[in-house]
Amino acid sequence: MGKMWAGRFKKEVDSKVNDFNSSISFDGRMYRHDIMGSIAHATMLGKTGVIDPAESEKIIAGLEGILADLDSGDLAFDMEAEDIHMFIEAELTKRLGDTGKRLHTARSRNDQVALDIRLYLRDEIQEIKSLTKTLIEALCDMAAQHTETIMPGYTHLQRAQPITFGHHLMAYANMFWRDLGRLSDTAKRMNQNPLGSGALAATTYPIDREMTSALLGFDGPTANSLDGVSDRDFCIELAAAIATIMLHLSRFSEEIILWSSWEFKFIELDDAYATGSSIMPQKKNPDVAELCRGKTGRVYGDLMALLSMMKSLPLAYNKDMQEDKEAIFDAVDTVKLCLSTFTPMLQTARVLKENMRAAAAKGFINATDCADYLVKKGMPFRDAYKITGTLVGICVDTGKTLETLPLSAYQELSELFSQDVFDAISLEKCAMARNVLGGPAKESVERQICQMKAALETL
Ligand code: ARG
Repeated sequence: MGKMWAGRFKKEVDSKVNDFNSSISFDGRMYRHDIMGSIAHATMLGKTGVIDPAESEKIIAGLEGILADLDSGDLAFDMEAEDIHMFIEAELTKRLGDTGKRLHTARSRNDQVALDIRLYLRDEIQEIKSLTKTLIEALCDMAAQHTETIMPGYTHLQRAQPITFGHHLMAYANMFWRDLGRLSDTAKRMNQNPLGSGALAATTYPIDREMTSALLGFDGPTANSLDGVSDRDFCIELAAAIATIMLHLSRFSEEIILWSSWEFKFIELDDAYATGSSIMPQKKNPDVAELCRGKTGRVYGDLMALLSMMKSLPLAYNKDMQEDKEAIFDAVDTVKLCLSTFTPMLQTARVLKENMRAAAAKGFINATDCADYLVKKGMPFRDAYKITGTLVGICVDTGKTLETLPLSAYQELSELFSQDVFDAISLEKCAMARNVLGGPAKESVERQICQMKAALETL
């Protein structure tokens, strides 16, 4: 195919360079947004009289025809085309002749591509938000089932204090809620229209950038033409927001993997969301969680690729920037895939409450409450802490728990102990007494669920 810039060149481009330069294999996915942008541009060119309004109408109809044919599969990409922008313009010219050649008046591929990625990512952000919201809703529903399910809470992966499983789940709901906020911030900040920035120095034609902004649903035009074509901050911000979602999914995955091990046995994954081993008949592997954890590294790689790609680029456009697409598309595809697989895996998992309860009974996670018992009877906390530590030591030596140690053993260390200590250190009591705002008690978790659901309603 003859190049659009053939006038300036005496030779055909080397075929390897052609392939090297080409981006249609990955930017083809933006065809809808490219056409949407071109329709807005053509509309504005017609309305401002930069081109004949009748020709503008023909261009719009031509673009709509190309869109319909690409959607239906009647038209396939020409893999020889340099990119999606060149392909669509060439196809338009094939269909309309000279009229098609007027579309690119007062425009450059530099502002065109800056526009297309924004339009494309704006839609993708909505999808990622909706998948994230579905996960939060699933967490709220599951937490509501487990406001009284006692489990050990951990620090350093050592049993620490009793909590409820509902509380643990709502911790993740809050993490993913912040992710929604980051996605919204990114979408808001990037909703500026770069079209009209031209190659770098805008244009001498009397274009109307407010008009294309309104037509394309932007908050307004970008304020500086150099920045308009050089900016990829929004790709980086979005990749960072996605990387944080992946980080959260990865921590959750790590817990799912631990919880489904024989060592914990807190949950059992549904057969549809686990896999077997080719050699070990007893195995049931948490592959979905492991892949989410693994793919997190890959998304960090995408973010790092974008940051490094941009760090030394002089203004304005440089071809390096074509590398933005594979990185951000991969991050977007990966997070969507992970979210849409992780959520049903979680929803179908069986929660083994008895095992959580049994694990909570071991590990002296009520020791803090035992110390607090003495404090409530007037002992300074440090003394109470020491006495409880001694009691734990006795339990370890004699193979007992604080619940099974006889009252006499307690009373040998302090006469403040009486029978009611056993009530104070009951795991249920310990969890349910933590009823302050943000705590693990039943009512507190119910409040958290209510608040989260109300917050989701505001989206
Ligand atoms: N395919 C190019 C990209 O994605 C489009 C912009 C090309 N601009 C240029 N001056 N060569 O970045």
